[in-house]
Amino acid sequence: MEIKLKNLTKVFQSKKEEETVAVDNLDIVIPSGQLTGLLGPSGCGKSTTLYMISGLLRPTQGEIYFGDENVTPVPPEERGIGLVFQNYALYPHMTVRQNIMFPLENVKMDKQESLEKAQEIADLVGIGHLMNRKPKQLSGGQQQRVAIARALVKSPRVLLLDEPLSNLDARLRLQTREEIKRIQRDTGITTIFVTHDQEEAMSISDEIVVLREGVTQQVGRPQEVYNNPGNLFVAKFLGTPPINIFDGEVKDGRLMIGDADIAKKDIDDREVTIGIRPEGFKMVERSKFKAEVDLVETIGRDTTLIIKHPNDETQTFRAIVDADYGVEPGDTVKFNVKPHKMHIFDKETGEVL
Ligand SMILES: Nc1ncnc2c1ncn2[C@@H]1O[C@H](COP(=O)(O)OP(=O)(O)OP(=O)(O)O)[C@@H](O)[C@H]1O
Ligand SMILES: [Mg+2]
Repeated sequence: MEIKLKNLTKVFQSKKEEETVAVDNLDIVIPSGQLTGLLGPSGCGKSTTLYMISGLLRPTQGEIYFGDENVTPVPPEERGIGLVFQNYALYPHMTVRQNIMFPLENVKMDKQESLEKAQEIADLVGIGHLMNRKPKQLSGGQQQRVAIARALVKSPRVLLLDEPLSNLDARLRLQTREEIKRIQRDTGITTIFVTHDQEEAMSISDEIVVLREGVTQQVGRPQEVYNNPGNLFVAKFLGTPPINIFDGEVKDGRLMIGDADIAKKDIDDREVTIGIRPEGFKMVERSKFKAEVDLVETIGRDTTLIIKHPNDETQTFRAIVDADYGVEPGDTVKFNVKPHKMHIFDKETGEVL
């Protein structure tokens, strides 16, 4: 089920004359049968968007389509959606089975059939052996899977997940996100997964939508967006450790950081902002792009150099390099930059050049 958002806008009126534009003219297509990650910093309008898609919130303006059907006026219970929130809100006094069957209560389905359906979905999400337990007898990850089973039991057209993993510890988060990916693949259900965690979104999504202050920044496959950020915000938001930022300029067709000639750039002379991914540096014998190493961090197979920033000695930047180099604090290192790991932005607008 393809979901189309057309000029979707939500304005909250908190007090008199105080307006928050939580979602500003969203115009996107969520592809059918895929997992789309809705990604952005806290307060950028992710939940608001999701609640409008679910019908729990009314848009101030714009329309929502499920396939060809305009569902904007349709109440939530008639939209065919399954919803999972951050705090899974299971009924504590009910068993897992009763929790999963709960949404079937006002559906015309005989008892045996709903029992079978509940078991089928529980098996699918890997909790079929826990049906007689109460929620407090389950781990956080198991509870979250009960919530997902409950959302799936009515065979919704769309599955909406709002930060479903944020109450889980790091290891369980990883495990459960793989589980969600698998469930989504097995069911083929169109899924929107809201998170502020870029790594989570990148790892789980077929496609990501990056939001900032209610405005779409970029839509695409995670790796595409990472490799080709459309603006400085997206470049900075995706990637750990984050992209390194340098002040630079284009002079006579050359891209310069200070007096170091970094690359060719065929645009008019101007000041620019340069982003270089930590994995985008290559240590070389000779280069004017050089700086002093402040710290060396080796974690597992990665060696990260923390280097004094050429624009400002009080700042540092990070380069992930081969462990074999044997660099030490105080050494001066010289770099070339891998062209596909570097992005150049307009200094004023942040748009990619
Ligand atoms: N009921 C409301 N009344 C007024 N303002 C609201 C209301 N709900 C949300 N907002 C505001 O709308 C903006 C978007 O909120 P939203 O909850 O959609 O953000 P989010 O991206 O989900 O953030 P988080 O990652 O923290 O969950 C925020 O500035 C928020 O303060
Ligand atoms: Mg939210």
